[in-house]
Amino acid sequence: MGIDVSAMMKARLGDAYDLHAKYMNPQMVKVLRSIGFDKTYVRGEGQYLFDDKGNRYLDFVGGHGVFNIGRNHPKVRKAIEDALAAQTANLVQFDCPILAGMAAEALVKKCPEGLNRVFFCSGGSEAVETALKMARGATGKPRIISTLRGFHGDTYGSLSLNGNPEFKDGFGPFLPGAEQIPFDDLGALERALAPGDVAAFVVEPIQGKGVYPASPNYLSEALRLCKRYGALLVADEVQVGLGRTGRFFAFEHYNVVPDIVCLAKSLGGGYIPCGAAVMRADIFDKVFSSMDRCVVHGFTFSGNDLAMAAVIATLQVLDEEKIIENAAARGKELMDGLNALKPKYEMLADIRGKGLIIGVEFGPPKSLALRAGWSLMHSVDEGLFGVAIVMPLLEKHRILAQVAGHQADIVKLLPTLAITAEDVRYFLGAFEEILKECHKFPGPIWEVGGRLAKLALTARMGAKKKE
Ligand SMILES: Cc1ncc(COP(=O)(O)O)c(C=O)c1O
Repeated sequence: MGIDVSAMMKARLGDAYDLHAKYMNPQMVKVLRSIGFDKTYVRGEGQYLFDDKGNRYLDFVGGHGVFNIGRNHPKVRKAIEDALAAQTANLVQFDCPILAGMAAEALVKKCPEGLNRVFFCSGGSEAVETALKMARGATGKPRIISTLRGFHGDTYGSLSLNGNPEFKDGFGPFLPGAEQIPFDDLGALERALAPGDVAAFVVEPIQGKGVYPASPNYLSEALRLCKRYGALLVADEVQVGLGRTGRFFAFEHYNVVPDIVCLAKSLGGGYIPCGAAVMRADIFDKVFSSMDRCVVHGFTFSGNDLAMAAVIATLQVLDEEKIIENAAARGKELMDGLNALKPKYEMLADIRGKGLIIGVEFGPPKSLALRAGWSLMHSVDEGLFGVAIVMPLLEKHRILAQVAGHQADIVKLLPTLAITAEDVRYFLGAFEEILKECHKFPGPIWEVGGRLAKLALTARMGAKKKE
């Protein structure tokens, strides 16, 4: 008898949050329930999610950047179904599977000259681990420099590069030789590189946490410094690559070609986990330097057929459906629309990003009444204000968005790249309504804030009791 997954899901749908609370991550369940994010989504299509009551939501989180081409893209699904139906030999481990070769060829075609060797893996952290090993192996140097606020993954190597204490506290010690310097600071970079013992400088062209784009000459100057001191420049494009910023790679905005680039998230079309480190052949060849070192670095699922079918189809869809051009056009509309709101709403402090990665930062109000509410919320928890914005965005307007990082008044927009001009208009209308509400005191946003503050205090008191 076959396994009817649809029927199985339908029968147990109401148990989802309880199952997670019992067997998986009860703290996550508490958070979702307390902010009203405990929806039961049953279907995804393109830029939309649908819940069990038939409501449609506009998804501006995009699975943290997994759905550049949209959810459940039929062409990618067909490619994966075809690979399944073909009953491929898959993961023989002692052969050269055709799909991986073709996927590597397709990816290299998207790269600037010089980036022509691909190492496939199953996600962003593995891509970063690969870059670290390649850089150390090829240069013979020990130190790895990354940036404060940077995010590169949760495995020990990639976590050692992380520039956010909230992810690292309690997990040390980290990789010896890993150090973080301020982002966008060439002086700090030169001081770090000057001893000549650095294997790599690993950097996101646009930092995902908080959405901070590098200034125009940062990466080209960083490459020049890396070359001078014999280090490699690694661009972590796990979140901003594959069209997100309106170009295939974010580094293309910066007139630079890094030595290694890390990709993942959308590479598998939102279906199959897949990552890649693409690099110069001479770097690869210094590590895989002889026949007895042909498996010196690897992951069991690297280049598996289903992922490779998804990669080939995803790259094709990006081209055929002009998705990168759409990201640039919709990103401009969003940015222009948000900038037009700025003079009207004093708490709108900064809007930044490129293409369809946008951070909207709020700042303290000038008017006395608003300032009281702002101070109260921030005195309880620095991260509450952003949550008080995304809650009504979901509840009232059915738009899913997130706060960009820890303890920050920043709302991050990371929709699929397939959103329409109509989606942008809808978002801007909804967002302006929320802005209007948060510039009134008392008002619904501050009530939400008050409720959140109470919850945060209660949770803190509960934790104290347990200590
Ligand atoms: C820039 C960047 N690098 C690496 C990673 C890690 O990717 P993964 O979660 O697939 O391991 C992420 C994940 O968010 C990321 O944003």
